[in-house]
Amino acid sequence: MKKQTISVLGIGYVGLCTAVGFASKGYTVIASTHNAEKAAKINKGIPPFHEPNLKKLLKETVQDGHLKCLINQTEKAVLETDLTFNAVGTPSRPDGSIDLRFIEKSTHEMGKALNQKSTYHVVIVKSTVVPGTTQDIVKPILENESKKKCGSDFGLCMNPEFLRQGSAFEDTMHTDRIVIGEYDKRSGDALERLYKDFYGKNIPPTIRTTLSTAELIKYASNSLLATKISFINTMANLCEKILGADVKIVAGAMGLDKRIGPLFLNAGLGYGGSCFPKDVKALIAHSKNLGYRLELLEAVESINKTQPLKAVQFCKELLGNLKGKCVAILGLAFKADTDDMREARAIPIINQLLKEGANVTAYDPVATDVAKSIFQNKIRYAPSAIECLKNSDAAILVTEWEEFKKLTPDDFTKNMKQPILIDGRRIYTPEAFSQKLKFTAIGLGK
Ligand SMILES: NC(=O)c1ccc[n+]([C@@H]2O[C@H](COP(=O)([O-])OP(=O)(O)OC[C@H]3O[C@@H](n4cnc5c(N)ncnc54)[C@H](O)[C@@H]3O)[C@@H](O)[C@H]2O)c1
Repeated sequence: MKKQTISVLGIGYVGLCTAVGFASKGYTVIASTHNAEKAAKINKGIPPFHEPNLKKLLKETVQDGHLKCLINQTEKAVLETDLTFNAVGTPSRPDGSIDLRFIEKSTHEMGKALNQKSTYHVVIVKSTVVPGTTQDIVKPILENESKKKCGSDFGLCMNPEFLRQGSAFEDTMHTDRIVIGEYDKRSGDALERLYKDFYGKNIPPTIRTTLSTAELIKYASNSLLATKISFINTMANLCEKILGADVKIVAGAMGLDKRIGPLFLNAGLGYGGSCFPKDVKALIAHSKNLGYRLELLEAVESINKTQPLKAVQFCKELLGNLKGKCVAILGLAFKADTDDMREARAIPIINQLLKEGANVTAYDPVATDVAKSIFQNKIRYAPSAIECLKNSDAAILVTEWEEFKKLTPDDFTKNMKQPILIDGRRIYTPEAFSQKLKFTAIGLGK
């Protein structure tokens, strides 16, 4: 059977991984974006962001002609393919509610293309959107622009994405589950057929449901993961008040309980990134509009807001007044293996340190260029972890990069002016580090 052809709108983490994933399995994929610079990079086989294991397959799929990226040509992309994944960004508005500007714009463009199309086409919303968006916003725009009827003339699905930045490509290729929200059976059948062909015998569990249930599954999943993080951070803060308590041991033992599980129980400086913060806020705002206050998630969010500032508080406890003190920041990205700094915990920490008059030097293996666009010359940027530590009065470990795990107590004592270390991600063994350094860590009892 002839392989279906695919278009992808938006070439961020989700769009590009989806595009390369399908192209790597022999599908013809046309991506479309408004960003000419990004498109040029992709067409040369260069990923526009740091994501492990994407580079090689992007290059191969572009070179063998399975993937190309168009600029501002959504209509062409839709007209030349059978299915379109919409993976444009869905950021937050200042009040936390979802900003659907990009979804609406790209949907208008798709609708115009559908107007010119004589064959059946399936539109798939892959971006994270609040429940009701696909039915109440996407469908009417598509029908008005195309002058066609959803269900009979074109199909519509909502297919949330669950990839994690840092392992985004592997997650696309080996997802735990596929969720297909369908406007009607024909739309759902078409998307399930595509995934059956893509995964073959190894197709993950597939849940077919309504559009709004699919939309909510994504928010419910991210909200629970964020809740686990804020929960363990609350336990960490309690541990700090208890003699001899250690949240790492608490979490490790809790995680052995099958009902709880070990993942997302790492105490630290809170969650960041482009998804958890915005999705929790969007669900809170959406639910409020529906007349139901999500008090649990309000608490999750508020805990996450104050958690990073604990690093500065520790710094002051160990160092006193921060005015004129040199503080080394190890890690800028919101997590390891990415250069994404959206909602990175390093941002409020550095801003607070600067406010208190500290001199900040930072190092990150890949996010320094992104950090420069945020902090400009307000901080200094070191070329390595050791250079970052040199002559500092205190160091704060912010991102759990593998290379930081290899640092020894001697690396700190030999290079710092004062060997004070705050482990914001619990990557160091307290026993080994506290012998040689003034050491403190999130969730470590008195
Ligand atoms: N990043 C993640 O880890 C992740 C995981 C799961 C789901 N999601 C969701 O997927 C969606 C995309 O996330 P992302 O991280 O890939 O976003 P991103 O911000 O990295 O990329 C979005 C892209 O869409 C492009 N765009 C905007 N309007 C467009 C249009 N009209 N036509 C074509 N391109 C357009 C932007 O230029 C940008 O390149 C969001 O809803 C997000 O919540 C993200």
